[in-house]
Amino acid sequence: RTVYVNGSYVAQEEAKISVFDRGFLFADGVYEVTAVLGGKLVDFAPHMQRLRRSLSELALPSPAGDEEILSIHRELTERNRLVEGLIYLQVTRGAAERDFAYPPEDTKPSLVLFTQAKTLRETPASKTGIAVATVPDLRWKRCDIKTVQLLYPSMAKMAAKAKGADDAWMVDEDGFVTEGTSNNAYIVTGQGKLVTRHLSHDILHGITRAAVIQLAEAEGIDVEIRPFSVEEARQAREAFVTSASGFVMPVVSIDGETIGTGTPGTFSRRLRAVYIAEAE
Ligand code: PDD
Repeated sequence: RTVYVNGSYVAQEEAKISVFDRGFLFADGVYEVTAVLGGKLVDFAPHMQRLRRSLSELALPSPAGDEEILSIHRELTERNRLVEGLIYLQVTRGAAERDFAYPPEDTKPSLVLFTQAKTLRETPASKTGIAVATVPDLRWKRCDIKTVQLLYPSMAKMAAKAKGADDAWMVDEDGFVTEGTSNNAYIVTGQGKLVTRHLSHDILHGITRAAVIQLAEAEGIDVEIRPFSVEEARQAREAFVTSASGFVMPVVSIDGETIGTGTPGTFSRRLRAVYIAEAE
């Protein structure tokens, strides 16, 4: 596989990053994950907008302009003959003597991109739905910035797997679901209303979330932007999560209790189909 590192396209075995890179030492970096379907980038422009916002919130220097970043995505897609999968992009504050203070302004940020060939449309999980287990949300208070600081979500996913679930839903101090480890969370109420938490510092402002809310409204579905509790989710008619890698993924149980019929519901299946049709 060919990867991109700081201006060069190299075989993955040849790619090098300094041990002094602040991404490695301080998790001082941000990332984006963009899907590729049928060789085409999905929602590229909003991913770039969110990258710009993450960079600016952390006063991280921009490693390249949007045009150049787009051309790197295209080049990697071609070189790796990527038809379906993901493109990962990471920007860190670069290599500098280890110090909590940011390095001098002329320090060059590091830019790394790689592709992951992956089936996204016809996955077994999208047909059966996934099981989630709840964990307290112990992340820092700026979850709206897409940083590479992913240890807690990783721990949460492992805790969920240890309980026989596929992923975790993180829960705030008041018992309301914030989001999944790497996706936004939704329920459908008995009255057929789609509910998902409002944007704030508590969750990542998902690109798929914005697209799915728009599609739902266009489909005539009532959307309520508000927090929902674990208790409400347990009694919901349906649940699902959204992300660049999972699109719309049905959730069929929570902490071992079946949601609805225990199979992917009609809202989830319809929104998944509509989202994929738009993306293709
Ligand atoms: N994760 N919430 C969190 C915490 C996430 O990490 C992600 C994305 C999302 C969904 O955002 P989007 O729809 O823009 O992908 C929500 C990516 C896919 C990842 O970390 O691999």
